[in-house]
Amino acid sequence: MNNPFDFSGKVALVTGSGRGIGRAIARQLALNGADIVINYVHNQEPAEEIAKEIRSFGRKALVVRANIGKMDGLDTLFSLVRENFDSLDFLIANAASGFNRPAMQQKESGWDHTLNVNARAFLFAAQQAVPLMKKSGGGKIVAITSPGAERVLPDYIAVGASKAALNALVRYLAVELAPQHICVNAISPGIVETGALKHFSFMQDNQVIPRAVSNTPAGRLVTPQDIANVAVFLCSPLADMIRGQVIVVDGGYTLPVPD
Ligand SMILES: NC(=O)c1ccc[n+]([C@@H]2O[C@H](COP(=O)([O-])OP(=O)(O)OC[C@H]3O[C@@H](n4cnc5c(N)ncnc54)[C@H](OP(=O)(O)O)[C@@H]3O)[C@@H](O)[C@H]2O)c1
Repeated sequence: MNNPFDFSGKVALVTGSGRGIGRAIARQLALNGADIVINYVHNQEPAEEIAKEIRSFGRKALVVRANIGKMDGLDTLFSLVRENFDSLDFLIANAASGFNRPAMQQKESGWDHTLNVNARAFLFAAQQAVPLMKKSGGGKIVAITSPGAERVLPDYIAVGASKAALNALVRYLAVELAPQHICVNAISPGIVETGALKHFSFMQDNQVIPRAVSNTPAGRLVTPQDIANVAVFLCSPLADMIRGQVIVVDGGYTLPVPD
């Protein structure tokens, strides 16, 4: 077998890849040889920065501003992918957004926004990605989910529900797309220190991170690079027989029963 991690000539779309976990995944896929479509919604500067870094590796990087929570945003994103590339090999559904507040304070607009960005976008991005993947003879789809899909995190009800929907979509798509040689899986990270954490009121407590570290059997928090490494594995042919799974990458955080 040739190097299974050599992605030269392959094209990856990573949603929400200007910052955080998506950025690390985009960088790692490019280091492995893939050309990358960087997507962001508000923050152009970090998106252009990572694109510049990827081009310095000798890879192509296309930067697309598109709100994937809107159907026309998804259309814009995929029409630019089609204009710039003949096919697509990897779709990493990473972008997420949401209104973190208790159930009794949730609003219809916040629910709609959260579900649209985190779950609906995945289904309709897959619809647009599949014809492009068929041109490559198959592909890999990886969704970034969250432990909040199964467990109860403070103020996380809408995002948790959206991630539960995402996990279900992963399983359904894994079965429906299997005959087209497309593998669909999800990665569920533990706490990763990114900009996303500042949207949680419980993060005001400066003991949350030290407590999380001491409750993690691996002895440290998960990093964006840890998630990128697993994304690369799932995109490689070595992971071809993993279908519709949620791979937990949390250093063992969710294993012990708390005292
Ligand atoms: N951090 C954690 O502890 C953690 C734990 C479990 C799961 N996750 C999951 O990991 C993924 C990445 O999280 P992160 O912590 O890296 O988040 P982050 O640092 O806040 O980055 C989010 C990225 O998504 C983009 N984005 C947000 N809404 C978008 C939209 N409507 N359309 C297009 N792009 C959009 C942002 O673009 P802009 O830069 O333009 O705002 C940004 O690039 C998410 O799915 C999250 O649920 C994170």
